[in-house]
Amino acid sequence: MYGGESQVLRSSRNPIQKFFILAGTETVIHFPLIFSLPQTNKNFRQTFATSATFILAMALNPEVQKKAQAEIDRVIGTDKVPTIADASKLPYTMAVLKETMRWHPPVPLSIPRRTTQDDTFNKYFIPKDTVVIPNLWAVSRSVANPEQFNPDRYLDKNMSSSIPDPSEWAFGMGRRICPGRYLAENSLKAIVTGILATFDILPPENEIILPEFTSTHVSYPKPFRCQIRPRSQEKEQLIKARVLEVKVT
Ligand code: HEM
Repeated sequence: MYGGESQVLRSSRNPIQKFFILAGTETVIHFPLIFSLPQTNKNFRQTFATSATFILAMALNPEVQKKAQAEIDRVIGTDKVPTIADASKLPYTMAVLKETMRWHPPVPLSIPRRTTQDDTFNKYFIPKDTVVIPNLWAVSRSVANPEQFNPDRYLDKNMSSSIPDPSEWAFGMGRRICPGRYLAENSLKAIVTGILATFDILPPENEIILPEFTSTHVSYPKPFRCQIRPRSQEKEQLIKARVLEVKVT
């Protein structure tokens, strides 16, 4: 599909480029192969894990996908790909990103700590030198119907004040909070809006996706099949142009 330049791009080590190339060919894909998670720079695994979870959530929730695409088309137009600067104008799409991080947090258990003095929390006595593991998964399950993928929970004024925003817990907490969180959030804004603006993500023909995740420290979907197709011929041209703009250093 991408002619001569595809040779260069196919040998790229940049997983986002690989994603765009394979997605453009309308292949039914095996997601972790594209993002090559085990080989990915370890600081970016969480970002790619979140991207994989997002793709899975879209394949499972077509009505959410259509609503976010409609928002992007209405606010940004259909002839360009949104940038990070557009994110604040796309509340529903940003709620999709928040809900992705809540539905399956990429780091379900954060990094252990050891208490430096005796403490009491919620009537529990915690002696000095206790190892405490922050359970981010439990935070993600502290909402109504936690297994339901429902971005509206972040927009409904009656609900949203009691829903903890993943920006405030999915990256850990305190002095050791993730130093890469702003980079990660901005990368995810670009990935989520870029994919929704240009591609349709569909389940495979005649197959039901059963979502399963790895039980690793950085958790991501087990291999699943889905179809990723350019939304139109115009979008296909946009994707081609965008792929060639990406510079790998
Ligand atoms: C969705 C993406 C990401 C998530 C969910 C995430 C999550 C986390 C969590 C939960 C911690 C433990 C924080 C704590 O102990 O309270 C952490 C630590 C860390 N993260 Fe991230 N992270 C992400 C992306 C990144 C990126 C892109 C980078 C670097 C470019 C990065 C670099 C680090 C480093 C260096 C630490 C260790 C900090 C320390 O121990 O002082 N992370 N991250």
